[in-house]
Amino acid sequence: MTKVAKGSVPVSSPASGVLGIDIGGSGIKGAPVNLSTGELLTERVRIPTPEGAKPGDVAAVVAQLAAQFPETGGGPIGVTFPGIVRGGLTLSAANVDKGWIGLDADALFTRAAGRPVTLLNDADAAGVAEARYGAGAGVKGVVMLLTFGTGIGSALMNGGVLVPNTELGHLEFGGREVEPWASGAAKDRENLTWKQWGKRVTEYLEYLERLFSPDLFIIGGGLSKKSDKWMEYLSVKTPIKPATLQNEAGIVGAALTASERAG
Ligand code: BGC
Repeated sequence: MTKVAKGSVPVSSPASGVLGIDIGGSGIKGAPVNLSTGELLTERVRIPTPEGAKPGDVAAVVAQLAAQFPETGGGPIGVTFPGIVRGGLTLSAANVDKGWIGLDADALFTRAAGRPVTLLNDADAAGVAEARYGAGAGVKGVVMLLTFGTGIGSALMNGGVLVPNTELGHLEFGGREVEPWASGAAKDRENLTWKQWGKRVTEYLEYLERLFSPDLFIIGGGLSKKSDKWMEYLSVKTPIKPATLQNEAGIVGAALTASERAG
Protein backbone atom coordinates (compact mmCIF):
# COMPACT_ATOMS: atom_id res chain seq x y z
CA MET A 1 0.00 0.00 0.00
CA THR A 2 1.22 3.50 -0.75
CA LYS A 3 2.53 5.32 2.27
CA VAL A 4 -0.17 7.43 3.89
CA ALA A 5 0.63 8.67 7.38
CA LYS A 6 -0.71 6.03 9.78
CA GLY A 7 -3.83 7.14 11.56
CA SER A 8 -4.53 9.97 9.13
CA VAL A 9 -7.26 8.08 7.30
CA PRO A 10 -10.04 6.28 9.14
CA VAL A 11 -10.80 2.73 8.02
CA SER A 12 -14.47 2.63 6.98
CA SER A 13 -16.93 1.36 9.51
CA PRO A 14 -18.42 -2.09 8.86
CA ALA A 15 -21.78 -0.45 8.07
CA SER A 16 -20.42 1.63 5.19
CA GLY A 17 -18.09 -1.09 3.93
CA VAL A 18 -14.75 -1.03 2.19
CA LEU A 19 -14.62 -0.16 -1.49
CA GLY A 20 -13.34 -2.81 -3.88
CA ILE A 21 -12.60 -2.06 -7.55
CA ASP A 22 -11.96 -4.75 -10.15
CA ILE A 23 -10.14 -3.71 -13.33
CA GLY A 24 -11.05 -6.00 -16.21
CA GLY A 25 -10.48 -5.93 -19.95
CA SER A 26 -13.98 -4.73 -20.79
CA GLY A 27 -15.26 -3.16 -17.57
CA ILE A 28 -14.05 -1.57 -14.34
CA LYS A 29 -16.42 -2.46 -11.52
CA GLY A 30 -16.70 -1.17 -7.99
CA ALA A 31 -18.87 -1.61 -4.90
CA PRO A 32 -18.60 -1.31 -1.12
CA VAL A 33 -18.20 -4.68 0.58
CA ASN A 34 -19.50 -5.86 3.95
CA LEU A 35 -16.44 -7.71 5.19
CA SER A 36 -18.34 -9.63 7.85
CA THR A 37 -20.28 -11.51 5.17
CA GLY A 38 -18.37 -10.91 1.93
CA GLU A 39 -21.48 -9.40 0.36
CA LEU A 40 -21.76 -6.21 -1.64
CA LEU A 41 -23.58 -3.46 0.25
CA THR A 42 -24.99 -1.85 -2.89
CA GLU A 43 -25.31 -2.71 -6.58
CA ARG A 44 -21.92 -2.61 -8.24
CA VAL A 45 -21.20 0.23 -10.64
CA ARG A 46 -19.59 -0.74 -13.95
CA ILE A 47 -17.78 1.70 -16.22
CA PRO A 48 -16.45 0.44 -19.57
CA THR A 49 -12.65 0.08 -19.60
CA PRO A 50 -11.25 2.99 -21.66
CA GLU A 51 -10.02 1.97 -25.12
CA GLY A 52 -6.48 0.61 -24.87
CA ALA A 53 -6.60 0.49 -21.02
CA LYS A 54 -3.84 3.10 -20.67
CA PRO A 55 -2.76 3.86 -17.07
CA GLY A 56 -3.91 7.50 -16.92
CA ASP A 57 -7.32 6.69 -18.39
CA VAL A 58 -7.85 3.75 -16.05
CA ALA A 59 -6.80 5.88 -13.05
CA ALA A 60 -9.44 8.47 -14.01
CA VAL A 61 -12.11 5.72 -13.89
CA VAL A 62 -10.83 4.53 -10.50
CA ALA A 63 -11.17 8.13 -9.22
CA GLN A 64 -14.69 8.35 -10.68
CA LEU A 65 -15.72 5.13 -8.92
CA ALA A 66 -14.17 6.27 -5.63
CA ALA A 67 -16.25 9.46 -5.83
CA GLN A 68 -19.45 7.45 -6.42
CA PHE A 69 -19.33 5.81 -3.01
CA PRO A 70 -19.00 8.71 -0.53
CA GLU A 71 -20.37 6.44 2.23
CA THR A 72 -17.03 4.60 2.25
CA GLY A 73 -15.50 7.88 3.48
CA GLY A 74 -11.81 8.45 3.06
CA GLY A 75 -11.14 4.80 3.84
CA PRO A 76 -8.85 2.46 1.95
CA ILE A 77 -9.70 1.12 -1.49
CA GLY A 78 -8.68 -2.27 -2.85
CA VAL A 79 -7.98 -2.39 -6.58
CA THR A 80 -7.25 -5.44 -8.75
CA PHE A 81 -5.00 -5.50 -11.80
CA PRO A 82 -4.75 -8.24 -14.47
CA GLY A 83 -0.96 -8.67 -14.18
CA ILE A 84 1.88 -9.10 -11.68
CA VAL A 85 1.76 -6.61 -8.77
CA ARG A 86 4.71 -6.34 -6.39
CA GLY A 87 5.26 -3.59 -3.86
CA GLY A 88 2.63 -1.44 -5.59
CA LEU A 89 4.32 -1.73 -8.99
CA THR A 90 2.59 -3.40 -11.95
CA LEU A 91 5.21 -5.65 -13.52
CA SER A 92 3.48 -7.39 -16.44
CA ALA A 93 0.72 -6.60 -18.91
CA ALA A 94 -0.28 -9.65 -20.95
CA ASN A 95 -3.66 -8.28 -22.04
CA VAL A 96 -3.41 -4.54 -21.28
CA ASP A 97 -1.32 -1.55 -22.41
CA LYS A 98 2.44 -2.16 -22.06
CA GLY A 99 2.76 1.23 -20.32
CA TRP A 100 1.82 -0.56 -17.08
CA ILE A 101 5.07 -2.51 -16.97
CA GLY A 102 7.25 -1.13 -14.17
CA LEU A 103 4.71 1.58 -13.26
CA ASP A 104 4.04 2.63 -9.65
CA ALA A 105 0.32 2.07 -10.23
CA ASP A 106 -0.40 2.11 -6.50
CA ALA A 107 0.88 5.72 -6.28
CA LEU A 108 -0.97 6.67 -9.49
CA PHE A 109 -4.31 5.37 -8.14
CA THR A 110 -3.72 6.78 -4.65
CA ARG A 111 -3.14 10.24 -6.19
CA ALA A 112 -6.14 9.93 -8.51
CA ALA A 113 -8.56 8.72 -5.83
CA GLY A 114 -7.14 10.85 -3.00
CA ARG A 115 -7.38 7.79 -0.74
CA PRO A 116 -4.97 5.00 0.20
CA VAL A 117 -5.04 2.22 -2.38
CA THR A 118 -4.00 -1.41 -2.07
CA LEU A 119 -3.30 -3.00 -5.40
CA LEU A 120 -3.20 -6.74 -6.09
CA ASN A 121 -3.47 -9.21 -8.93
CA ASP A 122 -7.06 -9.93 -10.06
CA ALA A 123 -6.88 -13.72 -9.64
CA ASP A 124 -5.19 -13.34 -6.26
CA ALA A 125 -8.09 -11.12 -5.16
CA ALA A 126 -10.63 -13.69 -6.36
CA GLY A 127 -8.65 -16.42 -4.58
CA VAL A 128 -8.61 -14.76 -1.17
CA ALA A 129 -12.32 -13.92 -1.49
CA GLU A 130 -13.26 -17.52 -2.38
CA ALA A 131 -11.02 -18.86 0.39
CA ARG A 132 -12.69 -16.63 2.99
CA TYR A 133 -16.33 -16.50 1.89
CA GLY A 134 -16.84 -18.85 -1.04
CA ALA A 135 -15.97 -22.28 -2.45
CA GLY A 136 -12.76 -22.55 -0.41
CA ALA A 137 -14.20 -21.48 2.96
CA GLY A 138 -13.26 -23.97 5.67
CA VAL A 139 -11.05 -26.02 3.32
CA LYS A 140 -7.75 -26.96 4.94
CA GLY A 141 -4.58 -27.33 2.91
CA VAL A 142 -3.65 -26.15 -0.56
CA VAL A 143 -6.36 -24.48 -2.63
CA MET A 144 -5.73 -23.39 -6.20
CA LEU A 145 -8.15 -21.00 -7.93
CA LEU A 146 -7.97 -20.62 -11.70
CA THR A 147 -9.88 -18.04 -13.71
CA PHE A 148 -10.66 -18.61 -17.38
CA GLY A 149 -11.51 -15.41 -19.23
CA THR A 150 -9.48 -13.26 -21.62
CA GLY A 151 -6.45 -14.62 -19.80
CA ILE A 152 -5.92 -17.45 -17.34
CA GLY A 153 -5.37 -16.23 -13.78
CA SER A 154 -4.21 -18.27 -10.80
CA ALA A 155 -4.20 -17.95 -7.03
CA LEU A 156 -2.42 -20.40 -4.72
CA MET A 157 -3.37 -20.51 -1.05
CA ASN A 158 -2.22 -22.72 1.78
CA GLY A 159 -4.45 -22.64 4.85
CA GLY A 160 -5.99 -19.44 3.48
CA VAL A 161 -2.59 -17.73 3.12
CA LEU A 162 -1.89 -16.50 -0.41
CA VAL A 163 1.34 -16.97 -2.37
CA PRO A 164 0.89 -13.96 -4.70
CA ASN A 165 1.59 -13.67 -8.43
CA THR A 166 1.82 -17.35 -9.34
CA GLU A 167 0.83 -16.55 -12.98
CA LEU A 168 0.20 -20.20 -13.82
CA GLY A 169 -1.67 -19.26 -17.00
CA HIS A 170 1.69 -18.57 -18.57
CA LEU A 171 3.08 -22.04 -17.81
CA GLU A 172 4.32 -23.97 -20.80
CA PHE A 173 3.72 -27.64 -21.26
CA GLY A 174 3.44 -29.84 -24.34
CA GLY A 175 5.53 -27.21 -26.15
CA ARG A 176 3.00 -24.38 -25.79
CA GLU A 177 1.87 -21.68 -23.39
CA VAL A 178 -1.43 -22.56 -21.70
CA GLU A 179 -3.21 -19.17 -21.81
CA PRO A 180 -3.70 -18.77 -25.57
CA TRP A 181 -4.70 -22.46 -25.81
CA ALA A 182 -7.16 -22.97 -22.94
CA SER A 183 -8.49 -19.54 -21.84
CA GLY A 184 -12.13 -18.54 -22.26
CA ALA A 185 -10.97 -16.32 -25.14
CA ALA A 186 -9.32 -19.34 -26.82
CA LYS A 187 -12.58 -21.29 -26.52
CA ASP A 188 -14.44 -18.47 -28.30
CA ARG A 189 -11.71 -17.81 -30.85
CA GLU A 190 -11.46 -21.45 -31.91
CA ASN A 191 -15.18 -22.17 -31.49
CA LEU A 192 -14.40 -25.05 -29.13
CA THR A 193 -17.26 -27.10 -27.73
CA TRP A 194 -17.41 -27.44 -23.94
CA LYS A 195 -16.13 -30.99 -24.36
CA GLN A 196 -13.13 -29.91 -26.46
CA TRP A 197 -12.30 -27.07 -24.09
CA GLY A 198 -12.79 -29.37 -21.09
CA LYS A 199 -10.25 -31.82 -22.53
CA ARG A 200 -7.63 -29.06 -22.74
CA VAL A 201 -8.39 -27.81 -19.23
CA THR A 202 -8.23 -31.37 -17.88
CA GLU A 203 -4.71 -31.78 -19.33
CA TYR A 204 -3.73 -28.47 -17.75
CA LEU A 205 -5.19 -29.43 -14.35
CA GLU A 206 -3.37 -32.79 -14.48
CA TYR A 207 -0.13 -30.92 -15.03
CA LEU A 208 -0.87 -28.59 -12.09
CA GLU A 209 -1.70 -31.64 -9.95
CA ARG A 210 1.72 -33.09 -10.64
CA LEU A 211 3.40 -29.81 -9.68
CA PHE A 212 1.38 -28.75 -6.63
CA SER A 213 -0.77 -31.67 -5.33
CA PRO A 214 -3.58 -29.27 -4.34
CA ASP A 215 -6.46 -30.33 -2.10
CA LEU A 216 -9.02 -28.37 -4.13
CA PHE A 217 -9.29 -26.59 -7.49
CA ILE A 218 -11.74 -23.68 -7.75
CA ILE A 219 -12.70 -22.59 -11.26
CA GLY A 220 -13.61 -18.92 -11.55
CA GLY A 221 -13.80 -16.14 -14.11
CA GLY A 222 -16.68 -15.52 -16.48
CA LEU A 223 -17.17 -19.25 -16.99
CA SER A 224 -17.91 -19.99 -13.33
CA LYS A 225 -21.57 -19.06 -13.91
CA LYS A 226 -21.89 -21.84 -16.49
CA SER A 227 -20.53 -24.75 -14.46
CA ASP A 228 -23.40 -27.02 -15.56
CA LYS A 229 -21.87 -26.84 -19.07
CA TRP A 230 -18.25 -27.76 -18.23
CA MET A 231 -18.19 -29.56 -14.90
CA GLU A 232 -18.78 -33.01 -16.47
CA TYR A 233 -15.81 -32.60 -18.85
CA LEU A 234 -13.17 -31.84 -16.23
CA SER A 235 -11.92 -35.08 -14.73
CA VAL A 236 -8.91 -35.08 -12.42
CA LYS A 237 -8.25 -36.74 -9.06
CA THR A 238 -8.40 -33.46 -7.12
CA PRO A 239 -11.90 -32.19 -6.21
CA ILE A 240 -13.10 -29.29 -8.38
CA LYS A 241 -15.63 -26.63 -7.38
CA PRO A 242 -16.98 -23.70 -9.36
CA ALA A 243 -16.32 -20.31 -7.75
CA THR A 244 -19.38 -19.15 -5.83
CA LEU A 245 -18.78 -15.38 -5.73
CA GLN A 246 -18.56 -15.35 -9.53
CA ASN A 247 -18.04 -11.88 -10.93
CA GLU A 248 -18.00 -10.26 -7.49
CA ALA A 249 -14.93 -12.18 -6.27
CA GLY A 250 -12.38 -9.58 -7.46
CA ILE A 251 -14.22 -6.69 -5.78
CA VAL A 252 -14.63 -8.64 -2.53
CA GLY A 253 -11.01 -9.86 -2.41
CA ALA A 254 -9.68 -6.37 -3.17
CA ALA A 255 -11.73 -4.83 -0.35
CA LEU A 256 -10.70 -7.60 2.06
CA THR A 257 -7.00 -7.16 1.29
CA ALA A 258 -7.20 -3.36 1.56
CA SER A 259 -8.86 -3.61 4.96
CA GLU A 260 -6.33 -6.17 6.25
CA ARG A 261 -3.37 -4.04 5.14
CA ALA A 262 -4.86 -0.91 6.65
CA GLY A 263 -5.62 -2.58 9.96
C1 BGC B 1 -2.23 -12.25 -16.42
C2 BGC B 1 -2.59 -12.53 -14.97
C3 BGC B 1 -4.08 -12.36 -14.76
C4 BGC B 1 -4.85 -13.20 -15.76
C5 BGC B 1 -6.34 -13.00 -15.64
C6 BGC B 1 -3.06 -13.13 -17.31
O1 BGC B 1 -2.75 -12.88 -18.65
O2 BGC B 1 -0.86 -12.50 -16.65
O3 BGC B 1 -1.88 -11.66 -14.13
O4 BGC B 1 -4.40 -12.74 -13.45
O5 BGC B 1 -4.45 -12.89 -17.07
O6 BGC B 1 -6.70 -11.68 -15.84
